[in-house]
Amino acid sequence: MSAQIIDGKLLASNVRAEWKRRAVKLTEQGLRPGLAVIMVGDNPASEIYVRNKVRACSEIGIHSEVHHFFGNTHQNEVLDCIRILNHNQHVHGILVQLPLPLHYANNQVITSIAIEKDVDGFHLYNVGALVTGNTNFAPCTPYGVMTMLEQHHIAIEGKHAVIVGRSNIVGKPMAMMLLEHGATVTICSSKTRDLSYFTRSADILVVATGQPQMVTAEMVKPGAVVIDVGINRLPDGQLCGDVEFGSVREVAGYITPVPGGVGPMTITMLLCNTILAAERCQQNASI
Ligand code: GUN
Repeated sequence: MSAQIIDGKLLASNVRAEWKRRAVKLTEQGLRPGLAVIMVGDNPASEIYVRNKVRACSEIGIHSEVHHFFGNTHQNEVLDCIRILNHNQHVHGILVQLPLPLHYANNQVITSIAIEKDVDGFHLYNVGALVTGNTNFAPCTPYGVMTMLEQHHIAIEGKHAVIVGRSNIVGKPMAMMLLEHGATVTICSSKTRDLSYFTRSADILVVATGQPQMVTAEMVKPGAVVIDVGINRLPDGQLCGDVEFGSVREVAGYITPVPGGVGPMTITMLLCNTILAAERCQQNASI
């Protein structure tokens, strides 16, 4: 039997409609949510991501501003910009688009963002908060995946969740969130020997490797939930995920498509986190 498709585009549009009401309410009360995006250099993928984020902000009623620096900018100049944004009352969320140029110290830049404006959830404080079950801002991609599972009433407790990919942006926070919901979690990476041994035992399989169509039907347990975080462009120009969709959908119980799966949810959760940051700001002002 063919897997049920988890339609990220539809889900994202439902979630955005709900959060738009919250953004409108704040704006009517005189506090328009605002997001500042910092980009350094001209990574083509980052340029597309940033453009999509700005467009999504405008559609939901969030003020957005992009601070785009040349790739050879000294890190201190970016830190100065973040310091000013930390004190800007029109900006409730600050996001530094990754990757940064190689000569940058990522953690120094990210930890200069005010904790209450770190809508990516990448600040070391917020990472620690997540790990200890005190989430302040959930990182957007794993947050989007959790929302997909929740909306499809997919039980997590007691399940074996296998994550392929150990990045700070996706793999590690994804593992923490699934663990927090009672899953038994295995994190695999490109170094894992006999990857299929692990993936075949997964009830929930999250793939974030950046390797086009690397997960094939033989690697998937019948009925498993398969979440494809990858987005890759094939030589013929077509977009594809890290999962071979055509064959895996015949084995899995649920599967996310690419495009139209996790991607739209990631941006949606960024919008939610920004509106949440603005709501908290309003609450703190009224205390
Ligand atoms: N680069 C790729 N994904 C992300 C993300 O979720 N946030 C940021 N800031 N940069 C990214």
